[in-house]
Amino acid sequence: MSVSTAVEAYNRLVAEGAITARPGSGFYVAHQTAPMSLSAVGPRLDRAIDPLWVSRQSLEADGYNLKPGCGWLPASWFPEQIIRKALRNVSRSEVDTLSNYGTPLGLGPLRQLISRRLVEREIEAAPDQILLTESGTQAIDMLCRFLLQPGDTVLVDDPCYFNFQALLRAHRVKIASVPYTPAGPDVESFASVLSQENPRLYITNAGIHNPTGATLSSAVAHRVLKLADQHGMIIIEDDIFADFEHTPAPRLAGFDGLDRVIEIGSFSKTLSASARCGYIAARPEWIEELVNLKIATTFGGARLNEALVYTVLSDRGYRKHIDSLRQKLEKARHHVAARLRCLGIEPWLEPRAGMFLWSKLPASLDSADLARSALSKGVVLAPGNAFSVSQTASDCMRFNVSQIDDRMFETLRSLI
Ligand SMILES: Cc1ncc(COP(=O)(O)O)c(C=O)c1O
Repeated sequence: MSVSTAVEAYNRLVAEGAITARPGSGFYVAHQTAPMSLSAVGPRLDRAIDPLWVSRQSLEADGYNLKPGCGWLPASWFPEQIIRKALRNVSRSEVDTLSNYGTPLGLGPLRQLISRRLVEREIEAAPDQILLTESGTQAIDMLCRFLLQPGDTVLVDDPCYFNFQALLRAHRVKIASVPYTPAGPDVESFASVLSQENPRLYITNAGIHNPTGATLSSAVAHRVLKLADQHGMIIIEDDIFADFEHTPAPRLAGFDGLDRVIEIGSFSKTLSASARCGYIAARPEWIEELVNLKIATTFGGARLNEALVYTVLSDRGYRKHIDSLRQKLEKARHHVAARLRCLGIEPWLEPRAGMFLWSKLPASLDSADLARSALSKGVVLAPGNAFSVSQTASDCMRFNVSQIDDRMFETLRSLI
């Protein structure tokens, strides 16, 4: 081979960190690579089923595993061509976008666009009342830092999105729960838990509830807000599934006018989970304090991600993509519900939108046992108690209809 080929090979190995160049001496192996640990190969079957179980198993799963328990769409359901086009556009932006910190509040045009989209859900928030974050999770984390002291009590739904629990544990607060009904939290239990536990904060979903797929009724929303007002409790409404809804369900933040309710959201479920970008919409004086907290904890915003998300959202193809996604999900929900029923698994309700079917297993089956057996066959399920503070959902399982295929049904049939 030619000398230039050898030089190129050395340069690439240096760039990869495999070798180092010592001027005047030559090239040397940089360091010994540790041998691969066999215990790190394959899923961890011994992990206890807790609020982190589904996330760890789904995020660590490789391409061969099936993930009917995970909370996101398959990559092929995302708007790939629109994202690629937006990446090309963003690559031609001024160099500041490619290399500098974002402004503390975040990209102005994106905040304007979010403000207009919130109006479609009857939430009035001026662009200056919107703070961009690096994800929905980071939005909730920042709000917990802002609102809570260790030892405070926080109320969540039972069942609820498991990462609310995982995050609250990290904040060293007490967790109380309220049973969830097809129309929202059970208002009698809600009233009694507020009297007994005096929670500082209630974290719930807006629109489509995770894991049940239920939506809030106006009557329940009214009672919840009245009780929150009486007890001086703040509410975080996590609106991450907003784009899946055909017709928006009532929003606590809309009725309340962003007084004691804070709306958060992100673009992980419909646009890209990789372009980390979310937002908080709240009272102006809280946003002012949250900006300080954002600088203290993350310094600058992810300007490149914000530019990408803005470019995708303002592409006219995005709304068309969302329309077809909603139809695809509707079809998948009906199809999967029918096939689950054939296995004796009964959906708790038929959700109006979204990807989840919260379902009851046949009597005598324990969802944690089933999830562990499925994992040994490369299938990641979402057992009920991962979502339940009171640990009363061992007979339930959350299924993601977009991640379910024939192999998964066969595995489930054989396990049952
Ligand atoms: C209700 C809910 N909130 C937040 C998240 C995470 O959002 P992000 O990717 O923006 O951190 C998820 C992901 O599954 C979710 O289901």
